[in-house]
Amino acid sequence: MASSIRPLFAIRTASSLFGRGISRPLSTKAAASKASKGASLVLGATAAGIVGYGIYKNKNKWMTSNDALEAVESIMKSASVSAAEPPTAQPSVFSPGKDHALYLWIHLKPEANAKEVAKVCTNLQKMVDQVVAPDFRDDDDHEVLAGVGFGPNFYSQLGGKSPKDYNYAHRKGTHGDMPSSGGDVFIHAKSNQVSNLFELCQVFVRAMPKGSVAEYEDIYSFVYKFGRDMSNFIDGTENRADDEGRQAVAVDKSTGGSYVITQKWLHDLDIINSEKRKTLESWVGRDQEDSTELNRKTITSHVARMTSGNQKEAPKPVEIVRQSMPFGSNSGEHGLFFIGYAADPYNFDYMLSRMVGAGGDGHSDDIMRFSKNTKGTYWFFPGVADLAKLGSK
Ligand code: HEM
Repeated sequence: MASSIRPLFAIRTASSLFGRGISRPLSTKAAASKASKGASLVLGATAAGIVGYGIYKNKNKWMTSNDALEAVESIMKSASVSAAEPPTAQPSVFSPGKDHALYLWIHLKPEANAKEVAKVCTNLQKMVDQVVAPDFRDDDDHEVLAGVGFGPNFYSQLGGKSPKDYNYAHRKGTHGDMPSSGGDVFIHAKSNQVSNLFELCQVFVRAMPKGSVAEYEDIYSFVYKFGRDMSNFIDGTENRADDEGRQAVAVDKSTGGSYVITQKWLHDLDIINSEKRKTLESWVGRDQEDSTELNRKTITSHVARMTSGNQKEAPKPVEIVRQSMPFGSNSGEHGLFFIGYAADPYNFDYMLSRMVGAGGDGHSDDIMRFSKNTKGTYWFFPGVADLAKLGSK
């Protein structure tokens, strides 16, 4: 029985991982110049990934006994193939971006029943299926790519093991602090329909065991000006553009798991709107119009802090897959919800230390002159197989 379920799940995961049709790219390298010139822009048409698509698409079709036999044979074949393949990451981890994202950050009560919470979390993909009608699941406009992660304390309470420790320290910086806000369960979901995400959040929170949630925050993001941050800089230029590259950066090969950083940044639009373009560019280290890296930039520019120095195309000692997006309202909080995936949490530590003047050279990141960090932590998103095991423990 188990072997007939696993491959189907693998197939469905694969089909949603390699979303067909048009998706928002995580890398804006190619889109940058077009976006800045206001040309009509096809946002990152991704190569059509069709792994297992046929089987998934036809799963509701009436079958003859021959069809059924063929389907079983096909499942058996894919079972032996998937057994040899590396563990699969959850659908949110390295798939392309979409027009909206849900960031659901949950703190549990100390008395919450960890096993019961784990069962709800392992049902996330079923909840996605509940929200998106079967006929629309592979439609790029309705597809939802979701993943669930756990804070280090709660994950160890569940008996989960991550290859590396991932504790987020409170950091003090010249231009502001990075508070450590903790958290137990985090959902990252992407869709072109924000209503799907709103509904998914409702379904998930309602499914949580009664009285287990101490507090939660659900943030819905949007694509701003074809892929710009609210500072008007194009965001994502240096992200890996290809699925394989993103997978290599984001996924721990031995488990299919991924470490995740989430941070809420509130932008000061008065500073952004009143500072000279040249000043803002010197803080970021890139041209505001088309994202070209500045030939001459300071060691305190964001790009110099995130790489190894201020020379042009300085080596990158570490990389992450960024999936951050703008969020908020004009009357209330607004800024960037920062989320990055990596195969090793050290990659986040390296970058954050260099932002707050703890990277060895004492310099801090000028990007913190226009944005204030109010929340942050690390999570582990287990691979699909390890996540399924959590529910049965
Ligand atoms: C207010 C918060 C932030 C804003 C507005 C912001 C914005 C930007 C922008 C505009 C770029 C240049 C274009 C690009 O390559 O995407 C960039 C690059 C980058 N950012 Fe951020 N960022 C923020 C926070 C962070 C944080 C917290 C990290 C890491 C934990 C980070 C990691 C990176 C990396 C790795 C790059 C690419 C650098 C390169 O290789 O050139 N950013 N960011």
